[in-house]
Amino acid sequence: MSFDDVQNNKLRMLGKLTAGLLHEIRNPLSAIKLNLDLVKYYERELPEDVSESITDCWRATERIEDLIENLLQYARKSNNEMELLSLNHVTQTTIHLLKVKASKKNIKLTCELQDRLPLLRLNENKLLQVLLNLVTNAVDACDNNGSVCVRTYAPENENSYVYWQVSDNGIGISEDNISKIFDDFFTSKSTGTGLGLSVCKSLLEEMNARIEFESKINFGTTFTVSFQNNNNNGNEIKNTDH
Ligand SMILES: Nc1ncnc2c1ncn2[C@@H]1O[C@H](COP(=O)(O)OP(=O)(O)OP(=O)(O)O)[C@@H](O)[C@H]1O
Ligand SMILES: [Mg+2]
Repeated sequence: MSFDDVQNNKLRMLGKLTAGLLHEIRNPLSAIKLNLDLVKYYERELPEDVSESITDCWRATERIEDLIENLLQYARKSNNEMELLSLNHVTQTTIHLLKVKASKKNIKLTCELQDRLPLLRLNENKLLQVLLNLVTNAVDACDNNGSVCVRTYAPENENSYVYWQVSDNGIGISEDNISKIFDDFFTSKSTGTGLGLSVCKSLLEEMNARIEFESKINFGTTFTVSFQNNNNNGNEIKNTDH
């Protein structure tokens, strides 16, 4: 069994576990929402602040439901389905999913998306997983009040590549660690598994993309992913279409 087979099996198992877990969360969540509906029915008899906090709880359960629905939709997509995708759109989804994590550390999470970026034929699940891992690492690397920016661009004079860049102004990567960060189980974090980047690397290899990084201690790190422009029929997407 090759390294890639092992990684794929791990991902498949993780996918199954996640989908199973999400289903299990849905049932008790519906029970919570039904009970909140019942309490809301007696809203007029309740003090105003109690009624407001019940409304807040109800909205929060709705948000969790939306999130579960989105994640299940991704999990249902077959593992190797390739479709014409907008990197800008996947970037927006990632930022939406990680907004709360970033804002807890007061980190500014922004994006600079190039207008009229060519669509690429890729697997959405894999792309999302790569960007989630890279942005999570960037957020982890920053102190409170740091900033993380995701950029997409395709140089006009060179129509064979589309680039995706994640930059942070965090702790940077030490000389000693530079050669290890893509290794399986290498982590400098107390709660890390050290699988994030090695999974990114093999998913990107499956899509014929490359990943590189530049880093300066206490200054920040930039990961750059380069995709071959494998869509020659000139499809483009405008920024307003995200
Ligand atoms: N943006 C970054 N800035 C600084 N160090 C980084 C950055 N991204 C990765 N690293 C280093 O590379 C190591 C490996 O990253 P990787 O994503 O593979 O594992 P992890 O984040 O430690 O754990 P997990 O499996 O939960 O992702 C990190 O522990 C960290 O030392
Ligand atoms: Mg990681």
